[in-house]
Amino acid sequence: LTEYVVIPLRKLISSLSPERIAEILSSFPCRKDEDLEYFLREMAVMYEKKHLARTSLIFERGSYTRPIAYFTIAVSSMDASGLDCDNTLRKKMNIHNNVAQSYLIGQLGKRDGAPRGLGEFAISCAIDLIKDANEKVGCRLLRLECKKALIEYYKKSGFILIGFDDEKDLYEMIKILV
Ligand SMILES: CC(C)(COP(=O)(O)OP(=O)(O)OC[C@H]1O[C@@H](n2cnc3c(N)ncnc32)[C@H](O)[C@@H]1OP(=O)(O)O)[C@@H](O)C(=O)NCCC(=O)NCCS
Repeated sequence: LTEYVVIPLRKLISSLSPERIAEILSSFPCRKDEDLEYFLREMAVMYEKKHLARTSLIFERGSYTRPIAYFTIAVSSMDASGLDCDNTLRKKMNIHNNVAQSYLIGQLGKRDGAPRGLGEFAISCAIDLIKDANEKVGCRLLRLECKKALIEYYKKSGFILIGFDDEKDLYEMIKILV
C-alpha cells in the first residue's frame, strides 16, 4: 500500500532554496484543470508569503520531488444574499449582514496519472486541517466552487449545492463542519 505524506508548502519554503521549490512546484501536470497547474507553479508561494492562503502538498513517502496532489485553503467571506438553501442551513452558516465567514478550498487536485481515490484522500486531509483551525478559531462553514461535472463527486463527500456563479460559470458548494 502506498503511503502518503502531507507537507505544508510553508515548511518547504523555510527549508529549501527558491530554485528547488520552483522545480518541485513546476512538476505538477494536470490536463483536466490547467488552472490547478498554473496556481501551483506561479501563485502558491506568493499566496503563502502574503498570508492569503495555505497550500499543502501530498507526496508518496520517499518521493519528495513530485507532488502527487495538493490543496489550498483560505479564509474567505461569502455573499449569502442569493443562496438557495433552507433556514436550518442558513442558521448554521452564522450569516451576519448577508455575509457568512468561511474556509475556502481554493484549489484541490491530483497530478495526471495519480491513482483513483487520491482526490478523496486530499479532501479528507483538507477537512482535517480545517477542523483543526475550527477548534482554534471557530467558523464551521467550508465552501468550494466547482464545475458542473464535479457536483455529484463533491456530494459524495458531504458537500451541498447552494448556488451558481454565472460570471465564473462555477457552482457553489458548502459543508458544515460540526
Ligand atoms: C477532482 C479530483 C481531485 C478527483 O480525484 P479522485 O477522487 O481520485 O477521483 P477521479 O479522478 O476518479 O474523479 C472522479 C470523476 O470526476 C471526473 N473529473 C475529475 N476532474 C474533472 C474535471 N476537472 N472535469 C470534468 N470531470 C472531472 C473524473 O473523470 C471521474 O469521472 P468518472 O467517475 O466518470 O471516471 C481529480 O480528478 C482531479 O484532480 N481533477 C482535476 C482537478 C480538478 O478538477 N479539481 C477540482 C477543482 S474544483
